[in-house]
Amino acid sequence: MRQIALTGIKPTGQPHIGNYLGMIKPALELAEDYQALYFIADYHALTTVKDKKELTDLTYQVAATWLALGLDPERVIFYRQSDIPEVFELSWVLSCFTSKGLLNRAHAYKTLIDENIAEGREEDKGINAGLYTYPVLMAADILLFGTHIVPVGFDQKQHLEITRDVALAFNNNYREVLVVPEAVIRKEVMTITGLDGRKMSKSYNNVVPFFAPSNEVRKKVMRIVTDSKRPEEPKDPDACNIYAIYKHFADADAIAEKRQLYLDGGLAYGDMKNELYVLLEATFSAQRERYNALMDNRAELEKVLQEGAEKARYIAKRVLGKVRKAVGVTGSR
Ligand code: TRP
Repeated sequence: MRQIALTGIKPTGQPHIGNYLGMIKPALELAEDYQALYFIADYHALTTVKDKKELTDLTYQVAATWLALGLDPERVIFYRQSDIPEVFELSWVLSCFTSKGLLNRAHAYKTLIDENIAEGREEDKGINAGLYTYPVLMAADILLFGTHIVPVGFDQKQHLEITRDVALAFNNNYREVLVVPEAVIRKEVMTITGLDGRKMSKSYNNVVPFFAPSNEVRKKVMRIVTDSKRPEEPKDPDACNIYAIYKHFADADAIAEKRQLYLDGGLAYGDMKNELYVLLEATFSAQRERYNALMDNRAELEKVLQEGAEKARYIAKRVLGKVRKAVGVTGSR
């Protein structure tokens, strides 16, 4: 059997081309070589998204995005975390093998504590226990499926270390029940440039959302920050935010040609923006149609997610059965 690659997508915002290049595209490529399990981590989002409609909408948006961009649910097991009750049972078991000190040191939680202290507030103010135990739930997501590799961004590195620690603690106490996974850290996520030249991120409000209506994409592209060099002046392509995005989508010949034009002089930023816009349209317009069609057909999305959940639970039940047996609870399935 092929090795298992698993990752979770937290539904917290509209996907943009930074997500596409940094996460979605590599994950779809990885699914060629592994049995991939990709899921929407809606219960992780609940630590911060407390609006019912928002959580539902964001969850469907993630599902429609991945499907529109080519995830094949016949090959990838694609599901929603909250549809797998086994995750939450395993989460409890694992919490009994997670040292509290490890959670105290988790970056996400510690950052909030440090902010509270810096602002002179009580240190736990506004921090729910879900934020604190977030890494345990994540470990359960991963260990429940005998996962071998977990492709994630650098920000998740520590969570994967915690997952490994917990798995080892469990195995150490019983026997080798759990597969200890490896993180596959994507470095390139850091280098996708946003409209203003900083890393593309929704927290900087500098993203290009590819499934937005065409005119909105156009407006965003026109807002890309450049210097004020005139068309005839030679320019450094590597210092240009338009080029930084363009090079991810254009073919090699077009990139080389543009590069030369920057260096020689004769390139107007306005024209270059227009070309980038046209290129993004050519790259994403068919997918956008499919995305919109899926968003208008939630029954279809539901069907895909339910079928995925069924396949996922088949694996989950097997692993959880071993765990229950190992710890010695009754009613081992
Ligand atoms: N915590 C991850 C994030 O914020 C999402 C996630 C939840 C995840 N469970 C996971 C990623 C399991 C990988 C594996 O991006």
